[in-house]
Amino acid sequence: MERVALITGGSRGIGNALAEALLHKGFRVGIVSRNPENAVEAFRAEGLPAFGVPLDLERDPPQQAIEQVLAQAGGVHVLIHAAGINVRKPSLEMSFEEWRRVLYLHLDVAFLLAQAAAPHMIEAGWGRILFIGSVTTFSGGGPIPISAYATAKTGLLGLTRVLAKEWGARGIRVNLLCPGYVQTDFTAAVWSNPALYNPITARIPLGRWALPEDIARVGCFLCSDESDYLTGQAVVVDGGFLAY
Ligand SMILES: NC(=O)c1ccc[n+]([C@@H]2O[C@H](COP(=O)([O-])OP(=O)(O)OC[C@H]3O[C@@H](n4cnc5c(N)ncnc54)[C@H](OP(=O)(O)O)[C@@H]3O)[C@@H](O)[C@H]2O)c1
Repeated sequence: MERVALITGGSRGIGNALAEALLHKGFRVGIVSRNPENAVEAFRAEGLPAFGVPLDLERDPPQQAIEQVLAQAGGVHVLIHAAGINVRKPSLEMSFEEWRRVLYLHLDVAFLLAQAAAPHMIEAGWGRILFIGSVTTFSGGGPIPISAYATAKTGLLGLTRVLAKEWGARGIRVNLLCPGYVQTDFTAAVWSNPALYNPITARIPLGRWALPEDIARVGCFLCSDESDYLTGQAVVVDGGFLAY
């Protein structure tokens, strides 16, 4: 059976590395983002079967992502929600709109995508859902306050566990992949500032930030048959950061 993966945030960073890893494992991959074209073009130039699903998940109904993947590829077997934003400021200065914006994209959209994808996975008798958490799922944030983000990432742990329980017997595994510090556009404001970068790096036992590929290898394992008895878990890939 040809398996189809839908990856939000597949145009850049961690989502893009996950897309590449799954494409090399033989999946067709639908890349959901506001601008998926460049990533799709780059994969197709390598002969890999990626296709674009241009959506703004802050504005367009998330269910449209599932509908468009079904229309283009005929199924959805893997759902990865890696699209993300952050608002870095103290809680006393955060507006309700900013709070809701971050919670919506990370947590509400995760639920709506899973709810729309699950019936098709149940029908296929095989499904994998991977949400992207963070070390902030457990740590309450980093050196810059990020209350909405850390709350959303902790909420994803609850969602992962409830959906794993509800859908496990129906062939769907649900897990949460929690990266540590990864060098992407998302964290540029942190890694480009030595006053933030140096103390964080000093706290990582492996002595370096992750590359998106470090995270994608584990994500690929979580979506594969090799991890068949693994569900409802948060898998932390942080170079030992939380063990410090
Ligand atoms: N980098 C880290 O250190 C780190 C650590 C832990 C967890 N994470 C999590 O990992 C995930 C990916 O982060 P990253 O570092 O890879 O970020 P990134 O390089 O900034 O990529 C973010 C992705 O999200 C997409 N996106 C943002 N807003 C969107 C919207 N409104 N609609 C559709 N797509 C949207 C972007 O695509 P377009 O611009 O094309 O729309 C892009 O593909 C996030 O959930 C983040 O919280 C990151």
